[in-house]
Amino acid sequence: MFLTIRTPRTFVVAARVFPSKTPLSFATPISLSNPKLDLEALSVLKMTFVDPDGTHHVVEAGDGNTVLEVAHLHGFDLEGACEGCMACSTCHVIIDDGWFMRLDDPSEEEEDLLDLAFDVRPTSRLGCQITLSRDLNGLVVSLPSQHFNVTGS
Ligand code: FES
Repeated sequence: MFLTIRTPRTFVVAARVFPSKTPLSFATPISLSNPKLDLEALSVLKMTFVDPDGTHHVVEAGDGNTVLEVAHLHGFDLEGACEGCMACSTCHVIIDDGWFMRLDDPSEEEEDLLDLAFDVRPTSRLGCQITLSRDLNGLVVSLPSQHFNVTGS
């Protein structure tokens, strides 16, 4: 028997379901310790980007995506010049107060880079250093009013 699971827009997973203890095989991470389908593992997360003018954009994100990756996926103006190598600060975002304390502390290297960003706030972080998980489902980040752009534009 084949079972097809459709989740909003992004993923289509097809798997053969076996009647006995034969493990299932999936392209996406699913707990094999439980032979039942782990539907939560397939769920799409949500996060919100807030424009400098206050407009909120709720978007879908994958478990394991960074905030920078999600911004690029949905076309937000967040440069990320070094593509997450912690060599710039062009992925600077401002974390919503209610979410900030749920994040792991930034590394010393990240804090040093944040010193180079524009419009830094007490809850500023680098978007490439925040990896989404179910614990961060619903995360809200604001885009700074000014961006440091390596092209100078
Ligand atoms: S993309 Fe360069 S530090 Fe995040």
